[in-house]
Amino acid sequence: MAQREHFSGRVAVVCAMAGSAIGLGNIWRFPYMVGEHGGAAFVIIYIAATLLVSLPVFIAEVSLGRMSRCSAVGSMSKLRPGKKFWKGAGFLPFIIPLLIASYYSVIGGWALGFLFKSISGQMVSTAPEAAEGLFAQFQATGIQPITMHLLFLAGCSLILVFGVRSGIEKFSKLSLPVLFFLIVSMAVYSLNLPGSDGGVRYLLRPDFSQVGPSTFAYALGQSFYSLSLGTGAIITYGSYVRREENITSSCIGTAVCDLLFAVLAGFAIMPAVFAAGIEPSAGSGLIFQSIPYIFSSIGSAVPALGVVMSIVFFLTVVVAAMTSQISQMQVLLDVLQEKTGIGRRKGCLILFVVLGGLGCICALRTDILEGCDFLCCNVLLLIFSFLIMVFTGFVLGKERVREEITNSGIIRFPEKLFDVVFFLIKWVAPAAIALIFISNFIL
Ligand code: PHE
Repeated sequence: MAQREHFSGRVAVVCAMAGSAIGLGNIWRFPYMVGEHGGAAFVIIYIAATLLVSLPVFIAEVSLGRMSRCSAVGSMSKLRPGKKFWKGAGFLPFIIPLLIASYYSVIGGWALGFLFKSISGQMVSTAPEAAEGLFAQFQATGIQPITMHLLFLAGCSLILVFGVRSGIEKFSKLSLPVLFFLIVSMAVYSLNLPGSDGGVRYLLRPDFSQVGPSTFAYALGQSFYSLSLGTGAIITYGSYVRREENITSSCIGTAVCDLLFAVLAGFAIMPAVFAAGIEPSAGSGLIFQSIPYIFSSIGSAVPALGVVMSIVFFLTVVVAAMTSQISQMQVLLDVLQEKTGIGRRKGCLILFVVLGGLGCICALRTDILEGCDFLCCNVLLLIFSFLIMVFTGFVLGKERVREEITNSGIIRFPEKLFDVVFFLIKWVAPAAIALIFISNFIL
């Protein structure tokens, strides 16, 4: 088999992983979660959850990928050969990205459809009440969501054809600064709208009365999803990280980018929501109903600016979703190539056909899409993360992990700090994951 590619350096690793991490989770979930679960208080809990649980999981996933240097499906059985259980568990990072990539591409397609509507000026020229219905109209055509999904998927497949270094790395290095530029522009616009201060208050007011046990579960669940953990994406990207790279600092860099983007997205969206005088909502309703309403009600004050800002917004969503989608497709492509030995091009074509077909079902039936999302985010992703942590903490053990994250002793890692990190990996993370899993069903 050909030599495995590598990301060129630290910047490339962080850009690729941040590309996977920054996505719909930052734009359509985080701002709403913050506002509804205690504002600044939620952000503090979110940061604590990321530091104590998600970051150790992140480090474990990258280490696992780099140790095994193979697909996410094969990683555990390669490091612990002969154990049927771990071979079986390896099936999860095939099923999860297959499901996620099928429906995520449909949502990417919605964003693409709305980008076209923005370019044609429709977002600003439609009356506000009608703008809220644009999504229902778009959906009802049947053909539009399918076409857009296929177009979005084709774009991602095309980038994937170019490989890890010339495709994923190049695209991520280009898109990350663009994404930050776009979201900052949107935030500046949003914060300058009359009446936007309500949105700032909604995001920042620390309200500890809203904080309860469930807040911790929400914060952790959100942090997991946002960092693309438990799906095989990070293990896969880890397998392309060079031996000389510092895993810990790359993971910290990625987590910081992801959080920063989520907070900026909050300031880009919520002040505008309040300026337009509507109630903040969650999920797809926020992006595809509230945002069109905003552009048609306030964007029309200065129509040219409204058109530009609507383009900025939907372009951000499309690009952010693309880099996340690509990371899931790379997981699948790796498996496909490893199992069948086919070339990259053929692999991408097969992925396009399979995901294209599965996505069409989700494009026509949003209840199936939501079902897949629930199954992945609340069940499968958590089960797989739990298994990864048990594998890293108990099967690989302390010395193997130390060896990997210190690059065989070359990187200095204070002994005490390593003990803390390993304790988090072995005990705290699995316990926390088990708790979110349980609380998802009882809260
Ligand atoms: N992290 C992505 C987001 O925030 C979603 C994602 C999950 C991407 C799992 C890849 C794998 O939208």
